[in-house]
Amino acid sequence: MPKLYLETVGCQMNVLDSELVVGSLRRQGYELAHTPEQADVILFNTCSVRQHAEDKIYSALGRLRPHKRKYPDKVIGVLGCMAQKDQELIRKRAPHVDLIVGTGQLAQLPALIRNVQETGTLQIALSLDRTAGRHEVERSFESYDPLRDPSMRPNRFQAYVRIMIGCDKFCTYCIVPSVRGPEQSRPPEHIAAEVRQLAGEGCKEVTLLGQTVNSYKYGRLRLGDLLAKIHDTPGIERIKFITNFPKDMTDDLLDAVRTLPKVCPYLHVPAQSGCDDVLRRMKRLYTVGFYNDMLARSRELVPGVAISSDFIVGFSGETEESFERTCDLVRTGGFKNSFIFKYSPRPGTKGHELYADDIPEEVKKRRNNDLLAIQNEVSLQDHRRMIGKRVEVLVEGPSKNAWKHETTGPIQLTGRTPTDHIVVFDGNPRLAGATVAVDVVEATAFTLFGDVVTGEHATRSSDGDDTAPAKALDTATRISLPIL
Ligand code: SAH
Ligand code: SF4
Ligand code: F3S
Repeated sequence: MPKLYLETVGCQMNVLDSELVVGSLRRQGYELAHTPEQADVILFNTCSVRQHAEDKIYSALGRLRPHKRKYPDKVIGVLGCMAQKDQELIRKRAPHVDLIVGTGQLAQLPALIRNVQETGTLQIALSLDRTAGRHEVERSFESYDPLRDPSMRPNRFQAYVRIMIGCDKFCTYCIVPSVRGPEQSRPPEHIAAEVRQLAGEGCKEVTLLGQTVNSYKYGRLRLGDLLAKIHDTPGIERIKFITNFPKDMTDDLLDAVRTLPKVCPYLHVPAQSGCDDVLRRMKRLYTVGFYNDMLARSRELVPGVAISSDFIVGFSGETEESFERTCDLVRTGGFKNSFIFKYSPRPGTKGHELYADDIPEEVKKRRNNDLLAIQNEVSLQDHRRMIGKRVEVLVEGPSKNAWKHETTGPIQLTGRTPTDHIVVFDGNPRLAGATVAVDVVEATAFTLFGDVVTGEHATRSSDGDDTAPAKALDTATRISLPIL
């Protein structure tokens, strides 16, 4: 059987794309390999959001050069956002690459691999302009997304479901609109059918994906309506959605989150900055005042909601004073957690064209560390408030530390609450996939620690499949973690 090695960087969209690539290649008889050396086809699903993500791929490609010289029949491919953006550069920096395939063309991959093997020539499939991109994207919704491969997911009871593709917001720092193409919402019937299929395969939690997921719009149908439409799918216990755009956080959507019991009270709504000047140069289309009102409205309409955010430090022209305002927003925002990034200028964006990358690297680093320290303190307070409470945890499997000490009894398990808090506790590995009650006894800024509640009402559901945890661990090693 031919063997496939696939490495993934980037956001959840890329993780999902990789699952679909594996699904389609398995149907062609491929088996997964754990290292590039063992594989006949070596693929990288790439990200361009920051320079660091691109550098990682070029180093990996560089390391494979001698290997390809020794085994010229092996096929090496670059997929996804960086392929879409930089075909010339890839050909120059990594001439041993056989395949360059954009995000909208992944469905063609099996045929393209065959072409390389038959003709020995470089195969390129990209959306060359936005119109072509739109066409390919439509095709991908119709013909590609339903091919799911549960064994490629870290576990079989959680899955991503794409409800939108692309982005039309054009924040000035961001490359995503040019690599993922125009914003398009997927037909609700297709989404509902995919959710039913996943539920049939044992999936209990779906996370709906979109670059600005709350901008979803199909005819008159909005995200709140879509949540209601899929809500009653038998077998589905939890519904999450990421990532939200602050301007599109409507009361209708918040009402849906409050009233639909399976929809988790967790919102990821990146602020990016706490300074109006910076937000204006970023073209985020809102002010700090608007963002703060949105936070207050969300908490009022969805009691107990957990909110998380993203911030960019060191964007062009960010003064110490601008940065202080961002610190204030993090101090007062009450975020469960925030992802903090140093600004990485992206050629091809308005930000790169219009503004200089004028904040020195050391300053970016310092601001990153300072903001992280503030957020960690806020997260710690947020987590400490949960000590003494009983939470409902969907068990994901053994924690990272679980296999360090040999034990015959319970092992350390990890899972998440509906508010997306990570909870670690000791329990039987067969609990993976079950929803259990846990009493929180200790907390750090990142993790809650607790005791699983035993007794008749403790476990809401478990299918008692003993193979689940082992399978989860085995397959989790096959995709590298997303860098976001
Ligand atoms: N669509 C999502 C985010 C996509 S990118 C949204 O609009 O929120 C994920 C995160 O990467 C962004 O929230 C932003 O914080 C960060 N990011 C995007 N472009 C960046 C850049 N050029 N430099 C540094 N961070 C960036
Ligand atoms: Fe990028 Fe802005 Fe679109 Fe998010 S909303 S993907 S940050 S352009
Ligand atoms: Fe990266 Fe593409 Fe996602 S650029 S963040 S993998 S959409």
